[in-house]
Amino acid sequence: MMWLNRDIVSIGDFSVDEIMEIIDKANKMVQYASSGHPERPLSGKIVATLFYEPSTRTRLSFESAAMRMGARVLGFGSLEGSSVAKGETLSDTIRIVNSYSDAIVLRHPAEGAARLASEFADVPVINAGDGAGQHPTQALLDIFTVWKESGPVNGKSIGFVGDLKYGRTVHSLSKALSMFDVSLYFISPEELKIPKHIKKDIEKRVPVRETKNLEDVIEELDVLYVTRIQKERFPDIEEYKKVAGIYVIRPSLISRGKKNLIIMHPLPRVDEIPPEIDHLPQARYFKQASYGVPVRMAILDLILRGE
Ligand code: NCD
Repeated sequence: MMWLNRDIVSIGDFSVDEIMEIIDKANKMVQYASSGHPERPLSGKIVATLFYEPSTRTRLSFESAAMRMGARVLGFGSLEGSSVAKGETLSDTIRIVNSYSDAIVLRHPAEGAARLASEFADVPVINAGDGAGQHPTQALLDIFTVWKESGPVNGKSIGFVGDLKYGRTVHSLSKALSMFDVSLYFISPEELKIPKHIKKDIEKRVPVRETKNLEDVIEELDVLYVTRIQKERFPDIEEYKKVAGIYVIRPSLISRGKKNLIIMHPLPRVDEIPPEIDHLPQARYFKQASYGVPVRMAILDLILRGE
């Protein structure tokens, strides 16, 4: 498979075999994720992280992954300290950073920003979230989490609950899962339903059920993927207030689920998962966040060294 210098813009750019190749490689990286790869295979490389939107896990796990592989890192995590604050366009910034680095990890509020950036850069561009669009590396670490914590992806019933309209992690992960043999459940209020074009595409490959009530489907799920209502994406705060706090996962609900149910969340959480859930054996969201490092080590190695 051709990995060297490949852009990672959308999860739809990958085949199931390629996803499994990343999973396999990430699994080998787990042993090095806290100590560093002994061979430092990416020494001499520079990874740029340009974050035009807030981030904790995605930026820091990319930077940790790069450093664990022996690469060095530059970039910005907020706009105040960069020339973006002076009005520089994305394409100009990308053209410049292209000559300072070997790969660019970009998060931006506009859908399509990563695709645009990839047209201005010779080095590979990795989409770390483009508005309500896509978040492909999150989908890869989410699939890795399912595989690691719950076993083979094929045969699973996976339920997404919360903001399915604006949640980019849902858009990427549901698309990725639909390439496997799974059943998908979309649980949301009317206002936050999964966009029609995404649902239509997914339904071509796997069974899909939509409902407002998590209670109706909890017993069928192997994986419950909880999401934050994406306050910052609402055009009108009054619309947000109508749906804020609409789903809160309670232990009594979880106790009705399958014995091996796992609960995932890309984080940050607001109030949808109260702390009392953290102690349950089903809670895997902190484990999930920790897998960001080995999965991104694998991704960086593949696109910077080709293997
Ligand atoms: C998510 C994101 O930025 O889309 N966070 C993440 O990358 N782990 C989810 C969110 O912000 O709700």
